[in-house]
Amino acid sequence: MELNEAIKGRKSIRKFTSKKPDWRNIIEAIHSAQYAPMAGGLFHMKFVIVDDEELIKKISTWSEQAFISEAKYVVVAVSDSSIVTTPFPEKGEYFSAQEAGAAIQNFLLSLEDFGLSTCWVGHTNEEKIGKLLKIPEDYTIEALFPIGYANEMPKTKKPKADIYHILYFNEWGHDRMRKIEKIESRGPEGY
Ligand SMILES: Cc1cc2nc3c(=O)[nH]c(=O)nc-3n(C[C@H](O)[C@H](O)[C@H](O)COP(=O)(O)O)c2cc1C
Repeated sequence: MELNEAIKGRKSIRKFTSKKPDWRNIIEAIHSAQYAPMAGGLFHMKFVIVDDEELIKKISTWSEQAFISEAKYVVVAVSDSSIVTTPFPEKGEYFSAQEAGAAIQNFLLSLEDFGLSTCWVGHTNEEKIGKLLKIPEDYTIEALFPIGYANEMPKTKKPKADIYHILYFNEWGHDRMRKIEKIESRGPEGY
């Protein structure tokens, strides 16, 4: 799959078929996360793959999201910010969260490449999930990812914001692109 196709085609999926994904593809997707940029080249994340039905049901209940229980696998992304705060005491926490996002996006795009679907689940009970999966207390649960094959067709995706509202040139608020677009839309004669 082309990278652009994966980026633009990825969608949050909350309905899964009963087909069980090949766990090796999930491991490959986690491996992709390891290629994300990390401050000082230090990888500070760990992942727990859950395939036990009872555990998945509990995760679903404690996250108050029934669709999670349909998934055959749930990946829990965890970070150890101390790996980043030790060399970067002032910005470590900030870096840790950014790095988790970068790693997770690699993971999501790799799943997409394997034809697998997921939904980033941030609303959960980290304390209960941490205890359930015996995750040490000093680790941060970043998010959960129920994984399966899509059993829904979300609408075609559009970018989440108009490019004119998020992009400036040289200084904040300077939207040169809109001006260029206006000139170009007048056509070669300038109308
Ligand atoms: C930090 C974060 C937390 C999220 N938490 C949840 C969640 O708890 N439950 C859920 O159904 N979707 C959750 N989402 C998914 C978003 O709702 C989804 O990405 C958004 O609707 C855009 O859809 P898309 O992923 O198809 O582009 C979360 C996304 C992010 C980035």
